[in-house]
Amino acid sequence: MALINKFLTNKFEEPYILVCTSKSQMLFSKDLLDKEGIENDLIPTPKGFGGVCTTAIKFDKKFEQKVREIIKKNNIEYEGIYSLKDKYKYNLSEIFNMNISDTLKDIVKKVEANIELNKEEIKYLLEVENEEYDALIRMADIIRKECIGDRIEIRAAIEFSNYCRKNCNYCGVRRDNKIKRYRMTEEEIIDEVEKLYKVGIKTVILQSGEDPYYTTDRMLSIIKEIKQKFRMGITLSIGEREEEEYRLFSDAGVNNYLLKIETASRRLFELIHPDDDYDIRVKHTRLIKEAGMRAASGGMIGLPTQTIDEIAEDIIFQRDFGIHMIGFGPFLPAKGTPYENCKPGDLKLSLKVVAVTRIVCQHVFLPATTAIATLHPDGQTLALKAGANTIMLISTPPSLRDNYQIYSNKNMVDLSFAIKSTRDAKRKLPKYLNYDYLKELGYEIEDELI
Ligand code: 5AD
Ligand code: SF4
Repeated sequence: MALINKFLTNKFEEPYILVCTSKSQMLFSKDLLDKEGIENDLIPTPKGFGGVCTTAIKFDKKFEQKVREIIKKNNIEYEGIYSLKDKYKYNLSEIFNMNISDTLKDIVKKVEANIELNKEEIKYLLEVENEEYDALIRMADIIRKECIGDRIEIRAAIEFSNYCRKNCNYCGVRRDNKIKRYRMTEEEIIDEVEKLYKVGIKTVILQSGEDPYYTTDRMLSIIKEIKQKFRMGITLSIGEREEEEYRLFSDAGVNNYLLKIETASRRLFELIHPDDDYDIRVKHTRLIKEAGMRAASGGMIGLPTQTIDEIAEDIIFQRDFGIHMIGFGPFLPAKGTPYENCKPGDLKLSLKVVAVTRIVCQHVFLPATTAIATLHPDGQTLALKAGANTIMLISTPPSLRDNYQIYSNKNMVDLSFAIKSTRDAKRKLPKYLNYDYLKELGYEIEDELI
């Protein structure tokens, strides 16, 4: 029996990775390794071994020879097999010049050498104050710059239905909440996607409550049309589905699937989710990856009764599950829900979580969430300065937007807001936007931003 950690992911004594040249080669290889009984995990390719969007197969050194043989025999197209001992090293010398404790210095040394932090160290980082807080944010910013660079990734979400069969205690669109419900037709969705396409957005996020009206066939039809007409990247955020559906969505070209764990604490997960099972959510996280999609997860900070210990576990969960896109934002009370009178999550703690997640998970996408932009007018900019690199626009048609209040007074992050945050954080906009068209539309964009 292999050594297994708390989250039942494989632990490797001396981890190696196999980086393939394409998703299909990666899935094919994983299948072969599984059949040969070689324990493996899918992880975001670490910095220095491939692009931020790619997935690597992690396995133990003791199987290296066997993996090489399998690759040869099956003519797998691959970039390389690498030892994670030779991981990328960071230069954090400027942090040592700051006024920080010896404990923090020891943690910084580990981060520099790219050695995994343990839970106690993560908790220490989550509790830093004053100059140590500044050191934490600076360290996350350095790692973000090394891993991702200065350009912001901009994605756009279309919230196409606010019907939901579930009753999550924190959520404003929960089943029992009396709100005006809507569903968009396929045509309406495609019209919105076309607007994004013209602006140059490369990835659309299709988000809804858990709404069985959108059957597998209806979803596949929408996905295929978007792929055919616009060749855009697609992220689905439609809740838990069947294993078979994950495969069909992946085969139809869905690139990412967003299914947040919300909290990795079983106790808290069960407290806030009357209809959900913790083990099922964890299993689905794995199924999404095994279907060939990149898994997006994350959670809420400052949930009623949540502890720092649990937040440290949340971050470790993202690392151990090889999550590619990690959205952590503050919990915000939503009108009409059981938690409407609870206090919102704390801004500073939310920023620390973003920073620590960058330090722990490194070569991944971290959104500056809509929730943090709602909590504080500068929340998005501050998150971008604390390690985040992605902004998700809300691209739901204006007439419907107000009905998708998963929490109250939601900030309608649009392109103007994203441009402002990018400018305020002294970063750059993505290359792929259609700037001539945006200027025609009246957006003011200085050359330094491009
Ligand atoms: N506060 C903050 N985030 C929330 N979400 C849902 N309800 C709330 C809330 N009250 C987030 C969850 C969910 C995503 C769609 O929005 O993380 O996954
Ligand atoms: Fe439904 Fe998602 Fe809200 Fe839960 S969090 S009630 S599944 S929309």
